[in-house]
Amino acid sequence: MKPTVGFIGLGLMGAPMAMRLVDAGYPLHVFNRTKEKCAPLVHKGAYAASAPAEVAEKSDIVITMVTNDDALRSVSSQIQSIARSGSIHIDCSTVSPVLTTALEKEYSQTGRFFLHSPVLGSIPQATDGTLMLFVGGSDDAYATADPVLTMLGQKIWRFPKVEHASIMKLIMNSFITGMIGTLSQALAFAQNAGVGGETVLDVLNSSALNSAMYQTKGKSILEKNFSPRFFLENLLKDTNLFREAARSYSVDTPVTESMKSVLEKAVSQGLGKEDYSAIIKILQ
Ligand SMILES: NC(=O)c1ccc[n+]([C@@H]2O[C@H](COP(=O)([O-])OP(=O)(O)OC[C@H]3O[C@@H](n4cnc5c(N)ncnc54)[C@H](OP(=O)(O)O)[C@@H]3O)[C@@H](O)[C@H]2O)c1
Repeated sequence: MKPTVGFIGLGLMGAPMAMRLVDAGYPLHVFNRTKEKCAPLVHKGAYAASAPAEVAEKSDIVITMVTNDDALRSVSSQIQSIARSGSIHIDCSTVSPVLTTALEKEYSQTGRFFLHSPVLGSIPQATDGTLMLFVGGSDDAYATADPVLTMLGQKIWRFPKVEHASIMKLIMNSFITGMIGTLSQALAFAQNAGVGGETVLDVLNSSALNSAMYQTKGKSILEKNFSPRFFLENLLKDTNLFREAARSYSVDTPVTESMKSVLEKAVSQGLGKEDYSAIIKILQ
């Protein structure tokens, strides 16, 4: 019999992830702070809860996909107030290693389990279940959660230490930060100099420098399509998390420092809710 699953946080990523679970026949209880976002899932047979605690009360496994440390801290206090003994909370948000380490400890002290499973990939991968997952936490909890995680991700990397999963996600997002900075300044220069952004992507495509990210984001930048797949303000959040975590291990982060100020400038100019590729607007 399938376990009852709860899903909290039905944003850009959470909604398609939860949809996969309800489509696969998992009994699903959902909560979203903005209630209207529950409607498409309820239409498919999910139950809408009035609070995170209600989700936790009814579920064997609760998944969260919320914005940041503050949101996860708030939601997990409500989950912990009522979750069943032996239940599992899997957080998929991008948050600090300090918080995930603290949560794992708190849950274990009350006979529950906490796994951190941040994801790499965006809305298309969340929709078709091809996310990459970095799962940190105990083997026992992971063994129980594996069938659910397999519905969400195509490839799973296991980390016995919960904070190592969090750190791996921040490392991967540091590539996004550096790559979008390089791509944006290159395309801005090519366009302003009349060289042609399409030609830049074409040359990249034939070279060892290419990446799928450069092609996908390059194409949408040239089409001036900045509809969000990953909010620019969330890339700033992750850039700050990476910087703080790397510094705590005595690592200098010069690329991240320079991108932090570019992203802050973009947010101050009202671009926070656009796709992160919108940083090109402040470079030209
Ligand atoms: N988009 C991507 O490509 C991507 C990829 C990998 C990882 N991530 C990470 O995944 C997480 C979610 O990102 P997203 O793109 O789905 O962003 P999003 O659309 O802004 O979703 C954020 C979700 O968190 C909820 N939330 C925020 N603060 C809350 C609070 N205090 N209490 C309860 N719920 C709260 C929001 O509720 P409301 O609807 O009420 O605002 C929403 O459901 C972030 O950590 C992000 O960095 C995103």
